[in-house]
Amino acid sequence: MSKFTGSKKATQFTESVIREMTRLNQMYGGVNLSQGFPDFPAPAVVKEAACAAIQADVNQYAVTWGTRSLREAIAREFGRRYGVTVVADEQVTVCCGATEAMMATMMAIIDPGDEVIIFEPFYENYGPDAILSGATPRYVTLHEPSAPQHSWTFDPDELAAAFNDKTKAIILNTPNNPTGKVFTREELQIIAALCRKWDVIAISDEIYEHIIYDDWSHVPIAAIEGMADRTVTINSLSKTYSVTGWRVGWTISPPSLTGAIRKVHDFLTVGAAAPLQEAGVVALGVPEQYYADLAASYQRRRDMLLDILNRHNFTCYAPDGAYYIMTDIGHFGFPDDVEFARYLVKEVGVAAVPGSSFYRNAAMGRTKLRFCFCKRDETLIEADKRLVKLAVRSTARVH
Ligand SMILES: Cc1ncc(COP(=O)(O)O)c(C=O)c1O
Repeated sequence: MSKFTGSKKATQFTESVIREMTRLNQMYGGVNLSQGFPDFPAPAVVKEAACAAIQADVNQYAVTWGTRSLREAIAREFGRRYGVTVVADEQVTVCCGATEAMMATMMAIIDPGDEVIIFEPFYENYGPDAILSGATPRYVTLHEPSAPQHSWTFDPDELAAAFNDKTKAIILNTPNNPTGKVFTREELQIIAALCRKWDVIAISDEIYEHIIYDDWSHVPIAAIEGMADRTVTINSLSKTYSVTGWRVGWTISPPSLTGAIRKVHDFLTVGAAAPLQEAGVVALGVPEQYYADLAASYQRRRDMLLDILNRHNFTCYAPDGAYYIMTDIGHFGFPDDVEFARYLVKEVGVAAVPGSSFYRNAAMGRTKLRFCFCKRDETLIEADKRLVKLAVRSTARVH
């Protein structure tokens, strides 16, 4: 066998479908509602802080596990908001985005043969994260809502059946990409009880913490009784401050796991961009009103895109958090989601993500398509105009 092929690990997953849709979109000049990055400016105060840090020559490596002031700001905010004490020196590690934070955590805690529970549909990185870290993934279904205004749910018995002696961790993502589900305190208590029973670590990706709608509120699993010392919370500047290209994220881990995470992080990336960490301190210090405005502006965009997609006959699952809308496209009569997504970007000029990229078993996502709404009104209005080309006869239903 040629040595010039990818490793066994690298051949077990495909390139990111989300990033591929963005590239296709650039090729065809479409409206990009696929990859979740805002097309509007980041807060001025945060950008100014980054410029000031570069001008002040904060240009060399930061402390590997993160600038002290940023780690302290992360610890302070988590403690203040959720009542969980975090010691910056012992628990916070700044990484290159939540992406590296997740990878570093998995590589730090997984041994071959360890099982990791993942809810599906899932954010597409978790599959490759499991493969690269050597974990055996076990998937538990998030069932789509059967009635209007209901949320995606899991079956507690199905979840309980996924736990066993080999289970090392469970990956959670709330608010959830791609479903928009926000896990309730009761659901987190069920998960927490299983983690305690089987001595399992919760790895909780809370990157959409502040992007939450209606009467929902975010509950971190670390704040559930008995979970602070068995949870790695992952977050990032990317979504909250509209700076997905800055690549600054972090883990908050029990002190017993921090050393392992920091070692892996050090040899993966050395550290996140030093001047942008300085700007992160300013970002985490913005007034509380910023977060209320952020959620309100996304709720308005959510309603706008729901209206557009309903008018163009998509069946929509209204999200309670995060900035995506999962839709069902079965009635459009395309062979599958990938064909439909390709048609949409090439012929209609709107990019979305095929649902199968969120499932291990592609068949489960074959009638789904995910749109994002972290976009300016003009962008959403342009998508609306283009979607007129989509000739359909079916009738939409809102879930
Ligand atoms: C659930 C989830 N986690 C992590 C990421 C990536 O975060 P970061 O930009 O901080 O690496 C995304 C981006 O879309 C996401 O949706």
